[in-house]
Amino acid sequence: SPYKIAVFVGSLRKESINRRLAHALEKLAGDRASFDYIQLDDIPLYNQDHDSRFPAQGTRLKNQVRSADAVLFITPEYNRSIPGVLKNAIDTGSRPQGDNAFQGKPAALIGASFGSAGTAMAQQHLRNVLVAVGLAAMARPEAFVQFKEGLIEADGTVASEGTRKFLQGFLDAFFDWIQTQQPR
Ligand code: FNR
Repeated sequence: SPYKIAVFVGSLRKESINRRLAHALEKLAGDRASFDYIQLDDIPLYNQDHDSRFPAQGTRLKNQVRSADAVLFITPEYNRSIPGVLKNAIDTGSRPQGDNAFQGKPAALIGASFGSAGTAMAQQHLRNVLVAVGLAAMARPEAFVQFKEGLIEADGTVASEGTRKFLQGFLDAFFDWIQTQQPR
């Protein structure tokens, strides 16, 4: 049966190149995985005072993560780090203490930018966070996608053969990683 992947896209904007990248990966995964996209834009700003009456949107996020075989993060770089909306969602999913939804799940991260460093610094920050919440993040291959106009269509079609093969290799490694972490 296909792997169920909880997918965090760290951008809220409609024309997001990272959302395009997500659609490209979903397409390339074919019937090996089903992508369950996590909604980030209605997660309240995390407030520890509300742990005892935890927001429903946070519970929804945690249920999605818990029912997934693995978690995939696809993020832009904002000011050399990850967007606040993504950090807020991860903080929410990790709480209250003792009820962290991420603990022990296999994970991978990837990102796209127009800059040549292709979100490298954001991903380095994100790795730190993923380890902190107990996710088992795949170490390699790393994937820093430098986006060029037309590289990926809105529907996830990848124009460049080289990029398609690279992304396929990333996915293959991720599925192997999930299998190693959670044999079935
Ligand atoms: C950016 N951008 C950016 N790019 C980058 O490579 N390194 C960076 O540090 C930043 N910093 C940054 C800060 C803020 C506040 C914004 C809005 C943007 C540019 C960014 O890569 C570009 O907007 C992407 O298109 C964002 O990804 P999505 O939304 O298209 O997925």
